[in-house]
Amino acid sequence: MRRLQLRRASFSDIEALSELQRNSLMGIAAAHYTPQEMAAFLTHPSVGMDQLLRTAHVWVLGRGRRIDACAGWRRSEAGAVMLRSVYVRTECAGRGLASRLLDHVEAEATRRNPGAIRLVSTLGAQGFYERRGYRAIGATFLHLGEVPLRGVDMVKTLPQAEPRRTAA
Ligand SMILES: CC(C)(COP(=O)(O)OP(=O)(O)OC[C@H]1O[C@@H](n2cnc3c(N)ncnc32)[C@H](O)[C@@H]1OP(=O)(O)O)[C@@H](O)C(=O)NCCC(=O)NCCS
Repeated sequence: MRRLQLRRASFSDIEALSELQRNSLMGIAAAHYTPQEMAAFLTHPSVGMDQLLRTAHVWVLGRGRRIDACAGWRRSEAGAVMLRSVYVRTECAGRGLASRLLDHVEAEATRRNPGAIRLVSTLGAQGFYERRGYRAIGATFLHLGEVPLRGVDMVKTLPQAEPRRTAA
C-alpha cells in the first residue's frame, strides 16, 4: 500500500475535508454526545472548512484527493497557539495518524509562536491529548447555534528556550 503523504491543505480540499470531518465526528466523537449536539456541531458555520482554511494552517495525511486525517493551528488574538480541527477517519483510528500529524503541526506552530498551545478537546479525545502532555484546565461549551457543545479546555506549556548568556 502506498504511504500516506503529509501536505498542507488547500481550498481544493474543502469537499474532502468536510467529508472527513463528518466521518470522524459521526464514527468516533458521536458516542460522547447527544444527537442534538452532533447536529449543531456538523451544521454550524464556525466549523466550516472554508473559514478554517482562511484562518488556520491546516495539514493533512492522505493519498491523492482522499484525506484520512487533518489538523491545524492558528494564532489566537492573545498570541497563543490554538490547535484546530484534529480529525482522523473512523476506519483509520488507532494507527498513529493523529500523532504523526500533531508532531508536525505542534513543531511548526511553536517554531513560529513559542509558548503554550491551547485547544478545546471533544469529550472523548481528552485522554489522547493528555498522553501528549496537555492538561485539562476546565470544562467549556462551544456555543454553536441553539445547542451548546460540551468540551474541555486544555493547554500544553512548552519548555522555554534557555536565555542566551552574554559574555561578561
Ligand atoms: C482523538 C483522535 C484524533 C485520535 O486519533 P488516532 O489517530 O486514533 O490517534 P493515535 O493512533 O495517534 O493515538 C496515539 C495514542 O493515543 C491513544 N489514544 C487515541 N485516542 C485516544 C482517546 N480518545 N483517549 C485516550 N487515548 C487515545 C492511542 O491508543 C495511542 O496510544 P499508544 O501511543 O500507547 O499506542 C481520533 O480519535 C479522532 O479523530 N476523534 C474524533 C474527532 C475528534 O474528537 N477530534 C478531536 C477534536 S479536539
